[in-house]
Amino acid sequence: MSETYTMAKAFFITTPIYYVNDVPHLGHAYTTVAADTLARFKRLEGREVFLLTGTDEHGQKVEKAAREYGETPIQLADRVVNRYKDLWTRLQITHDRFIRTTEPHHRHAVQAIYRAVQANGDIYLGEYEDWYCTPCETFWTEKELVEGRCPSCGRPVERLKEASYFFRMSKYEEPLRRHIEAHPEFIQPASRRNEILGFLKEGLRDLSVSRTTFAWGIPVPDDPRHVIYVWFDALTNYLSAAGYPDAPGELARLWPADVHIIGKDILRFHAVYWPTFLMAARLALPEAVFAHGWWTVEGQKMSKSLGNVVEPGALVEEFGVDAVRYFLLREVPFGQDGDFSRTAFVHRLNGELANDLGNLLNRTLTMVQRYLQGRVARPEAPGPLDEELRDTAAEAVRGYRTAMAELGFSRGLQSLWPLVNLANKYVDENAPWTLAKEPAKASRLRTVLYHALEALRITAICLSPVMPGAAEKMWQQLGLQGSSVVGGETLGGHRLADAEQWGRFPEGTAVGRPSPLFPRVEG
Ligand code: ME8
Ligand code: MG
Repeated sequence: MSETYTMAKAFFITTPIYYVNDVPHLGHAYTTVAADTLARFKRLEGREVFLLTGTDEHGQKVEKAAREYGETPIQLADRVVNRYKDLWTRLQITHDRFIRTTEPHHRHAVQAIYRAVQANGDIYLGEYEDWYCTPCETFWTEKELVEGRCPSCGRPVERLKEASYFFRMSKYEEPLRRHIEAHPEFIQPASRRNEILGFLKEGLRDLSVSRTTFAWGIPVPDDPRHVIYVWFDALTNYLSAAGYPDAPGELARLWPADVHIIGKDILRFHAVYWPTFLMAARLALPEAVFAHGWWTVEGQKMSKSLGNVVEPGALVEEFGVDAVRYFLLREVPFGQDGDFSRTAFVHRLNGELANDLGNLLNRTLTMVQRYLQGRVARPEAPGPLDEELRDTAAEAVRGYRTAMAELGFSRGLQSLWPLVNLANKYVDENAPWTLAKEPAKASRLRTVLYHALEALRITAICLSPVMPGAAEKMWQQLGLQGSSVVGGETLGGHRLADAEQWGRFPEGTAVGRPSPLFPRVEG
């Protein structure tokens, strides 16, 4: 790097790349909304961010699905990829890059990392024989099978024997263990870290990284009868999208990734396979892998055969994007399993969003219009109730900021509600409608409404990563300058620091007309 110019490292966040043999559902939306919220939060903190998502388009599973649809694999991929892209638009995802593993650049990157691992002496030709689960694209040992079936999905497995290139994963068992032990944040949450340490205790086998039994994949360099194992291909997306191997400047700006956000189903691939591939290619490891929990629907596993798959687009249609994003992140502490139910959804929407937050905005603006002709006025010196509200705001933002930085989205949102609730109580206790009847109380009336607006300004800033549309509506109705641009900019260029300062609501602001943020819905 030059002496005069050092490029800042961007905060690099990834989602899994999703298989195109399935259409997007609630689970895919969850991971991507969480990653987007973290990206928006980091931007609010003033960081440069790179958010990556995309699709995993190779492998036997996709080949098989295409055959069933009477399409070629690329036709299937071209069709389904639009379903993902459309959904991310509707969910207001601000990714910087959408990668498809069928891009020529990605193919080049996968072959390059394969060669790097090979050059390190870590690939050899052998023969593979084991139990194979096609839906999961995974070989299992006899010992791992559960009643003769796939331990992951419970479906039948078949005995497969083939010539295969192997990756010397066993060589990296000790280095990986040492890395995990030296970096407690590498695998999160802690329960997942323990799971992987437990897995390593069983010992690491070498890994078959090529297949000859199907064709839909990236050829092994110099031996095109083999295609590269789909997970080796898929995991490399994180590097190929970051400029590996031909754009070293971009790579330095992005790599290592700050966090790979994934579901717990694919933890082993990200916390064992991926870091050992990277070690063998002599590349830096990601800073963290965060595996979140699993959603069920009304207490049941979500599945096509049960017909209970939740279609996020339909939820957005019915309840609006902000309520969907809010529910997903508020309902379940990130890292734990959770259940999606309509009752719980409607309950949060009507309670926390419509009643608590929506009402505060609506009644405050209505009173500013009615009693102050819509003009925000300077507050007088604070009394005890005003100080309590101010201190609660500071506490709320502190709690929010700490939680969000740790991907504690639910805790972060929870931290804000004491402020929303106290602001409602503050309005009740100060009763502006009574103050408005006594001309001698005019100054107190202005002060009370100023502080209620101030609580709303701060809340809007903090909510913007989770509910960008609602935060923007709040901002407009409050009459504040600038806007929250869905493309990923922060509220009018306001950084989180503006939420940490009480008393920044500009005097003389003309507030807008109130219109309901979250209409109540019927259960
Ligand atoms: O595994 N609850 O893709 P995939 C929570 N292509 N999250 C869920 C979920 C649920 N019920 N169902 C799905 C693949 N997810 C590979 C990834 S990455 C290099 C390759 C989410 O389409 C969750 O993030 O099967 C999970 O890890 C992911 O979708 C699996 O998506
Ligand atoms: Mg899956």
